[in-house]
Amino acid sequence: MDDSPLAAASAAASSPILELRGVSKKFGHVQALLDADFALLHGEIMALVGDNGAGKSTLIKVIAGAHQPDAGEVRIDGHAVHLPNPRARLSRSAERWRRTAAS
Ligand SMILES: Nc1ncnc2c1ncn2[C@@H]1O[C@H](COP(=O)(O)OP(=O)(O)OP(=O)(O)O)[C@@H](O)[C@H]1O
Ligand SMILES: [Mg+2]
Repeated sequence: MDDSPLAAASAAASSPILELRGVSKKFGHVQALLDADFALLHGEIMALVGDNGAGKSTLIKVIAGAHQPDAGEVRIDGHAVHLPNPRARLSRSAERWRRTAAS
């Protein structure tokens, strides 16, 4: 396997910086998200499109740490994270920006 810095940088660029895997969220009897996957690559701009009530806001709130998923995981830079609240999400983002700025 090529373990050069260039290969490592290329692998990092092609792996998601943010990923949801199999995320489900229910509000009472309403299944807002069911086994939802989402992946965002470095530098990518993603549009989230869907009908009213499709679960767009719920998905963003899971990413933001405002809602806890019933199942599935949120991964940042390949690591599963637990985001108990939006403050935890902000501190994760700040940590990432610090690392990016230092590299
Ligand atoms: N806090 C909540 N309590 C109960 N039900 C909720 C809550 N938030 C969302 N829902 C329900 O979950 C489903 C998905 O809602 P969500 O707001 O994520 O959809 P959306 O795609 O953002 O819709 P819109 O296009 O209208 O903004 C809907 O049926 C909605 O009524
Ligand atoms: Mg919405």
